[in-house]
Amino acid sequence: MNQVKHIAIIMDGNGRWAELKGEKRVKGHEAGATVVKNITTYCSHNKDIERLTLYAFSTENWKRPRLEVEFLMKLLDRYLKNELATYLELNVRFEPIGDIRAFSKSLQKTIKDVQDKTAHCDGLVQSLALNYGAQNEILRAVNKIKNSEDAITQEMLSNALDCKHDVDILIRTGGDHRLSNFLLWQSAYAELFFCDTLWPDFTTADLEKIIKDFTTIERRFGGLK
Ligand code: IPE
Ligand code: IPE
Ligand code: MG
Repeated sequence: MNQVKHIAIIMDGNGRWAELKGEKRVKGHEAGATVVKNITTYCSHNKDIERLTLYAFSTENWKRPRLEVEFLMKLLDRYLKNELATYLELNVRFEPIGDIRAFSKSLQKTIKDVQDKTAHCDGLVQSLALNYGAQNEILRAVNKIKNSEDAITQEMLSNALDCKHDVDILIRTGGDHRLSNFLLWQSAYAELFFCDTLWPDFTTADLEKIIKDFTTIERRFGGLK
């Protein structure tokens, strides 16, 4: 039976969820933040799961209207400040991935602060992907190691990435079947789950079902069974 160590989620569908209710898109982001908390709590109680990596803001999401981007930045700041106590209570370590240098100084400080204050937690690692794009991550990694005397190895590149851990289960909510520049290297052998549920409607029962289905999949990694 497969054991799941690393779950990664493309949390998509917030805007459509709100629009279906006749609300502004940002209402969907707010509802989505509550689901982040629920899913993180659920994963923190499952001792097999070591990492939960959540796509929160992509390198391409800057293309959205300025007001929506600003709302997302404020929501992130508020979420991290409000949830610090929960991270500590659940023994969850917060590790952002992505290039956060593009964010305001004050948001960078909030991110660093939560990262530092949870650094001693040795339960689940919750990674939020913030200004994250896999192509950008790979480029930054290559630039870090390009002056090495020797040829770059797979291990060297993997260790230079923000996220150094292979993904077991990759979930995308919201009905689309694409990766949108998320964890392209780390998902080389991930099991992919696409569900129509919009992120604010995604429940721990949905996740439980996916984990159950995952356990019985025959993962061959290119070999034979
Ligand atoms: C995902 O939901 C959250 C972010 C990208 C920040 P969307 O905002 O993409 O919602 P839809 O896909 O437009 O419904
Ligand atoms: C992917 O969703 C990014 C996040 C969930 C943060 P998008 O809504 O940005 O992806 P596309 O534009 O539909 O590919
Ligand atoms: Mg979307």
